[in-house]
This record gives sequence, C-alpha cells and structure tokens, in this order.
Amino acid sequence: MSQTEAFPSLVPRKMSSEELARAIRQDIAAELDAINLYQAHIDATDDDRARKLLAHVRDEEKTHVGELLALLKVLDPDAQRLLEEGLEEAAPILKKGR
Ligand SMILES: [Fe+2]
Repeated sequence: MSQTEAFPSLVPRKMSSEELARAIRQDIAAELDAINLYQAHIDATDDDRARKLLAHVRDEEKTHVGELLALLKVLDPDAQRLLEEGLEEAAPILKKGR
C-alpha cells in the first residue's frame, strides 16, 4: 500500500476536482508499480509463454500511464505546464549525454 494514500479505497461521496486529481496521481503511481512488478516476474521466469503474456500486460500498463497523464493534465491546470517544463529542462541534459 502506498504511503501517500490520498483516500480510503472506497470514497463514499463525490470527489472535488482537486481530490480527483490526487486520486489520478495515486492511480498513476499504482500503474508504475504494476509495470515494475510485471517486469520482475518476467525476469524471474524462463517460461516463454508467461514472459510473452506478462510483457503484453506490462506494456498495457504503460499505455494506462499515458491515458491517466492525459486525464491529469485536464484535471490539474498546473500539471500540463510543469510537465512541459520538466521535458524542456531535461532535453538539453539528455542531448549532451549522447
Ligand atoms: Fe493498468
């Protein structure tokens, strides 16, 4: 369980936009954890059928991260700007590393 749990598992009311944005961030963290977990299981087996299926599921989780990020950008007005700032700050650093 995340140490930054924003809500109990079930929210017995409608969430505000700020609460929904926080929940989506928590969902993104869960997707990232799932990616690492599936990869660990892939690394820990020689069963090619399992490796292939787990890789497929892992990649679906990566897609879910993208979908949830798109939603977060809509819900959190600062998220879009700050994510783009991060991309811009990282780009020259990464380019130098080539
Ligand atoms: Fe997912």
